[in-house]
Amino acid sequence: MADRLRVALVGAGGRIAGDWRRAAQDIPHVAITALVESDPAARARLADEDVAVLADLDELLERDDVDAAIVATPPVTHAARGPRGAS
Ligand SMILES: NC(=O)c1ccc[n+]([C@@H]2O[C@H](COP(=O)([O-])OP(=O)(O)OC[C@H]3O[C@@H](n4cnc5c(N)ncnc54)[C@H](O)[C@@H]3O)[C@@H](O)[C@H]2O)c1
Repeated sequence: MADRLRVALVGAGGRIAGDWRRAAQDIPHVAITALVESDPAARARLADEDVAVLADLDELLERDDVDAAIVATPPVTHAARGPRGAS
């Protein structure tokens, strides 16, 4: 296992994602290793980052350098709850 928790940030171009990234910088055992952003213009703004910048979750799932993901996209983009979580 890696010495740091390797985290992907989904919705990386958004406001909240920026907060997550700043917070992660202060946690020694956490590293953001991938940024997922569906909007091409927002993705272009992330291009200079020293991590992988990906267009979608399929690209993320192909990687082997991610242990966990933070989903920072609006709720309307999230998968519907399964039967046990239905409300
Ligand atoms: N803004 C706040 O103060 C705040 C506070 C608490 C919680 N939140 C939560 O965080 C969510 C995001 O807020 P925000 O202000 O960062 O929104 P935002 O619209 O600024 O950012 C969302 C980002 O996600 C990207 N995105 C959308 N669908 C995607 C997908 N399928 N794959 C990859 N990227 C995708 C968008 O292109 C955008 O860059 C809110 O909807 C809310 O649920 C926001």
